[in-house]
Amino acid sequence: MALSFVSILFCSSLILRASGTPLPTSSKCCHLLDSEFRGGEKVVYPQTSEYGILNTYFAPTSQQSPSCIFTPSDTSDISRAIKLFTRHSCKFAIRSGGHHYNAGWASINNGILLSLSNLNKVVYNPSSQSVFVESGNRWRKVYNTVEPYGRTVVGAQNSDVGVGGYLLNGGISFLADQYGWAVDNVREFEIVVADGRVLKANKYQNRALFRALKGGSSNFGVVTGFTLDTVESKLATGAYVEYPASSYDALINAAYQYCVKGEDSKSQVLFITWLTVKNGAVAVKDAISWIYTDVMDVANLPKALAPFTDGKIPSSLVQILGRNQTMGSHGHDLTQIQHPGVRTNRQTISIIPDIQLLKQLQRVLVKTAEQYKTIPGFTTDLIFQPIGKQWIAAGNAKGGNSMGLTEPVIILWVQPHWASAKDDEIIAEFVTKVITQFEKIAKDAGKLSNFEYLNYAGPKQGLMEGYGAESIRRLQSVKRVYDPKNVFGTLLPGGPKVPGLY
Ligand SMILES: Cc1cc2nc3c(=O)[nH]c(=O)nc-3n(C[C@H](O)[C@H](O)[C@H](O)COP(=O)(O)OP(=O)(O)OC[C@H]3O[C@@H](n4cnc5c(N)ncnc54)[C@H](O)[C@@H]3O)c2cc1C
Ligand SMILES: *[C@@H]1O[C@H](CO)[C@@H](O)[C@H](O)[C@H]1NC(C)=O
Repeated sequence: MALSFVSILFCSSLILRASGTPLPTSSKCCHLLDSEFRGGEKVVYPQTSEYGILNTYFAPTSQQSPSCIFTPSDTSDISRAIKLFTRHSCKFAIRSGGHHYNAGWASINNGILLSLSNLNKVVYNPSSQSVFVESGNRWRKVYNTVEPYGRTVVGAQNSDVGVGGYLLNGGISFLADQYGWAVDNVREFEIVVADGRVLKANKYQNRALFRALKGGSSNFGVVTGFTLDTVESKLATGAYVEYPASSYDALINAAYQYCVKGEDSKSQVLFITWLTVKNGAVAVKDAISWIYTDVMDVANLPKALAPFTDGKIPSSLVQILGRNQTMGSHGHDLTQIQHPGVRTNRQTISIIPDIQLLKQLQRVLVKTAEQYKTIPGFTTDLIFQPIGKQWIAAGNAKGGNSMGLTEPVIILWVQPHWASAKDDEIIAEFVTKVITQFEKIAKDAGKLSNFEYLNYAGPKQGLMEGYGAESIRRLQSVKRVYDPKNVFGTLLPGGPKVPGLY
């Protein structure tokens, strides 16, 4: 069976060559993969139902059309495939959970999509209180595995998010101010590097690679598994609060104080501006969502959170979400509000906290949105996420990472929604227009940080440039050791790249 399949492929390529039309390299590569894996079910072609399932993304805007999808069962399959890709110059993309919004990062046209969805083992080790997680998992299974032991992981806020991309680009969790970036809590990476070797990187073996991978994205290989620290599981309570326009100045002042004080590592606050279009006009709503990651009494809020709900700043809606729930349970609740299948994109910058700047950015967003309000289904949000000194210190205490942050910043991102594929380009233009103005205003005020959080970054941003010179030098030297021919730069076209290399 396998043999005849291969010989059919041979014939078809001969016929194509004889008629003067060379077979596209990507289809040739799919056929080579097919014969390497003996025509089994591991290579999936277009027009099959499995292809449709494997090629579905959280945001439909990030979907592309791979020539075939390769679904390895284990690390050794991946090692064989990477050797084949290198030998035959096959282009590919790596996909874990498919949650990144950027088309061409975990998706590809005219190339092979390496889908990690069958790498879904999760094994808790009670004696070391660590959990081994294969890259193709979603956070839900990790929370569900460890929480019965009274432990939890520093993982995604929404439990449907994929493990692989989230971790390799940093990872923001509700526990960040206590434990740093999610990736700071990796004890060991298992990775297939460019020459097909399977390596372990931890604080004893391949140490420079270990650090580089913490924010190193897809530059160094296919990461197949992570051994993660677990932490004590505590019961958390969250809330969503809306404010009338008359409270805005006081809210921003309190937001600024919250960011610069960074006094309570168990609390986390997001500041949100929602823009919608009502009766042909842009409507602005100011809100926050906060979470406190330990048991507390809502009638007597912790000091850091009190200013937002003690009534001194009048609010128009206070909704307590998830009383005394585990991280996994909060993560599950978020999957009920953040729905897949909606057209969306996103770009980010980071700024040094500043009251005037925060206010100015909102005004620019509203003004720019005016020009796009007639686009069907158009809404957008602007979110501020503070990264405090405790967060950065927690990462440094665990050996440091590639992100290069030394001072507190506010990460902000703009994320529109709209109805129709025909408006994809114009909305991409809207976000670029907003972010370009943000950058200029922040820069002129001396408050622009170069950091761009990769999980929220747009496809054409500065990306890893923002990690800073020292981090880039380290990444470059690790790259020379583990991927000297830049396989993960040239054959893997999508995703952020270590700058200034070749
Ligand atoms: C609903 C929703 C909620 C979110 N919540 C959070 C949140 O709480 N905190 C947060 O920080 N982010 C959040 N994000 C953003 C999220 O972190 C990113 O989209 C992240 O990249 C998703 O991981 P993934 O495995 O699904 O990535 P994919 O889309 O599969 O991949 C993203 C990138 O990582 C690369 N990559 C993936 N796996 C590997 C691997 N094993 N080896 C090498 N390269 C790999 C891909 O090639 C691609 O460039 C959220 C996104 C959504 C849609
Ligand atoms: C959580 O549980 C504690 C202890 O039982 C209780 O005092 C507290 O009020 C609860 N929190 C919420 C938000 O219900």
